[in-house]
Order: sequence, then structure tokens, then C-alpha cells
Amino acid sequence: MLPIQAYKQLTSLDFKLLRSIEAGMRSFKYVPIDVVSRKARVRVELASKILSKLCSLGLLMRRLVSYEGYTLTYWGYDCLALKALVDSDFIIGIGKPLGIGKEADVYEGFTPVNERVAVKFHRLGRISFRKTRRFRSYLEDKDNLPWMFQAKIAAKNEYKVLEHLHSIGVKVPKPYTYNRHVVVMSFIYGDPLYVCDYLPNPISFYKSILTEVKKTYRIGGFVHGDLSEYNVIVSEDFLPLIIDWPQAVSIYHPSAERLLKRDIFNIVMFFNRRFGLKLKFKDAFSFIVGAS
Ligand SMILES: Nc1ncnc2c1ncn2[C@@H]1O[C@H](COP(=O)(O)OP(=O)(O)OP(=O)(O)O)[C@@H](O)[C@H]1O
Ligand SMILES: [Mg+2]
Repeated sequence: MLPIQAYKQLTSLDFKLLRSIEAGMRSFKYVPIDVVSRKARVRVELASKILSKLCSLGLLMRRLVSYEGYTLTYWGYDCLALKALVDSDFIIGIGKPLGIGKEADVYEGFTPVNERVAVKFHRLGRISFRKTRRFRSYLEDKDNLPWMFQAKIAAKNEYKVLEHLHSIGVKVPKPYTYNRHVVVMSFIYGDPLYVCDYLPNPISFYKSILTEVKKTYRIGGFVHGDLSEYNVIVSEDFLPLIIDWPQAVSIYHPSAERLLKRDIFNIVMFFNRRFGLKLKFKDAFSFIVGAS
């Protein structure tokens, strides 16, 4: 769920206070009201009134123990990112959800020329790390950072990896921009591989996936790190597009080989299970890293 109703009610002064709290969160978990009022150049009495409104819209949380302080919720952070994306003419609207999950919420969006895009809101810190199997090298030594900073790093990482891979011709969504914890990318028409019981030629589709993994590894210098049937989209012309890249690691990362093997294993096992094939992990592995 996105705070679209709340977003529509916000004035420029409301955004100013939200931004002051965002800036204050670099130093405080709950930003004291006098810091907010100073940063926003708004009298404490007026700030207090606006902050109460923002709390009731679900965009802030208030703490009254020992001092009065405020912190952004994901909704508040969403509003700041949406405002920046709208003001810079990347999007003019948000449509239906495409995938609501543990670590990201993806919505369709629309650009000023009415192009359909995918808008991915990273949601790190919403559930415990232990409950996710993702390996996040980009958060090494930073996993005690507040959720907001973790989500922002995830978005930046995903954008940068997509930008690089797209530029060398790997079949990934085209990234348009990112702001805070949000990445805007091209919309892919198709279905996730895990829902496909039928493919006209499963072996050829499997080989196409391995070709993308090989390009990513050999030319791009990256390992996806969370590849499975959930992160491959079958396009309308039956070609694979690989999504969901925030955790990608360089091939020189100490965990790269382990992650590459797991990625390949997941794909081999899926095709064997779903389409009754007898594909071998070692053949796939040597196709990707071997000399040919
Ligand atoms: N570019 C895109 N075009 C169309 N749909 C997309 C696009 N990117 C993501 N989606 C949809 O959103 C879903 C979730 O996206 P993604 O895999 O990137 O996020 P995630 O981090 O896996 O989220 P989760 O926490 O659910 O695992 C995808 O399964 C897909 O249905
Ligand atoms: Mg995914």
C-alpha cells in the first residue's frame, strides 16, 4: 500500500518538515521538535501543528519519552521520493501494485508521455534479516544502519547494476532513475517464470537464461546473487528478462563463486522439476565460467 491519499493532501510546508526530519535522521532516531523547527525555519508552535497532521496521516511517528521527537515512517519516505520523482518529471502517477513482498513493493507508474514504468520501493529493515535468504554484500558493516539508509543503498545499488548491465546488452529492465529508496525502470510485459507451466521450447529458454548469466558474469563482471524462477520474467515473445538486482556482487567478491553456483543450481533444478528435464549443473557452470 502506498500513501497516495496522504500524498495528495500535502502542502509545500508539509514537505519541508518531512525533509527536515529526513535530514535530522542522520543524527537522531527521533528528531527533536526544536531541531525540526530550526531546520525548516518554522516556529515550534506551527511545526507542532503540522507534525501532528503528518503523524495522523501515518507519515511520521512521534515519541514523547524524555523529549518530543519525530521519525519518518516508510510512508513518509515514500511521499518524499514520490514528490522528487514527480517534480523532476519522471512520473506523473502511480497505478496498480505489481508485486508486494518482503523486501520491495513494486507498482506500475506512468510518465508524462504516458509510458508505463515499474516503480520499485525498497523496503529493507521491515522484516528481520534472518527471515530473508538474500546475501547483501552492499550492506557489509552497515546492517545496523536505520531502515531508511539501508533501503536507499539497496535502490542505488540496484540502479547502478541495472545501468551497467543494460548498457552492455544484458536483458534487464532499462533503469530510468532512482530517488531515495525508489528505482524507476522500464515496465516488462510478461509473467514471472515460476507461474509458467508451459513454454514452447523449455530447453531453448533455459539456454537463453544461461546466456544472460554468462554475459552478466563474463562481460558485466557481476553475479546476480538471488537468481531463481521468481526473478526471471518470460516476455511476451518468450525471452527471459532478469529482474531484482540490489544484492548483485562483483565477480571479485569473496562470495561470488558460491552465489553464482547457487544461482545456476536454482535455475537447473527449476527446469528439471517443472519440465521433467535432466539438465546438469556442471554443464551449466562450465558454459558460464569455462573457456569457450
Ligand atoms: N520492471 C518490471 N516490470 C514489470 N513487473 C515488475 C518489474 N520489476 C518487478 N516487477 C514485478 O514485481 C515483483 C517483485 O519485484 P522484484 O523481484 O524486483 O522485488 P523483490 O525484492 O523480489 O520483492 P520481494 O520482496 O517480493 O521478493 C516481480 O515478481 C514482478 O512481478
Ligand atoms: Mg524478486
